[in-house]
Amino acid sequence: PRYWLIVPAAGSGQRMKADCPKQYLQLNHRYILDVTLSRLLENADFAGCMVALRADDPWWSKTASSKDERVDTCIGGSERANSVLAALEALLDRADNDDWVLVHDAARPCLHPADLGRLIADLRGHPVGGLLATPVADTLKRKAGDSNAVETTVDRRHLWRALTPQMFRFSALRRALETAIASGYPITDEASALEHAGQIPCIVEGRPDNIKITVPADLALAGFILSRL
Ligand code: C5P
Repeated sequence: PRYWLIVPAAGSGQRMKADCPKQYLQLNHRYILDVTLSRLLENADFAGCMVALRADDPWWSKTASSKDERVDTCIGGSERANSVLAALEALLDRADNDDWVLVHDAARPCLHPADLGRLIADLRGHPVGGLLATPVADTLKRKAGDSNAVETTVDRRHLWRALTPQMFRFSALRRALETAIASGYPITDEASALEHAGQIPCIVEGRPDNIKITVPADLALAGFILSRL
């Protein structure tokens, strides 16, 4: 099977409070999306790459990636899952059912090549696929309803933070996303769609510094992480 890359980049990134979506902020004088895409394309062998963009995106044409002939684009959707599904549909004529698809957030520019390599190597023979994830470091509290009263402390020993890339078979991922979206099931990553379909994704431990840029302070942190990778 071949490997395809999907990068959902159709979000508006409102939590960053910037005048453009976070994937178009500058990191070391490059667009974050350019940093993210070049780290992926330089460290794995993909049959093709599909980036999902907003229909009215005025920034993409300014990126270095828009001139890269390995990269194709499609129009994303209202939620992340819809954007990923749109990208799968844009690849439908080129991909086979059993090909692997890696989905990686546009706003995760600090992926370490070793993590990418280990994800692919560890899941190569797996029937379902899986995701990079990292153990939860903080003590976790559950609140009682809307009050601020602590109901309980959650046992964190079994809790992991889901990262990307997430890697699944082309047609299994497409069917799982279609079903989960149609049923209104809340899906914030690809693995949850597969879980909803009764599949069991596999966790591959990744570095905790594979952060998703979400709030302004993350930008400085990403610059620091990249200077040390
Ligand atoms: O908003 P959040 O940080 O969860 O977004 C994760 C990734 O999904 C980002 O790369 C964002 O651009 C993408 N996304 C998308 N389409 C949407 C919403 C988010 O491609 N409708």
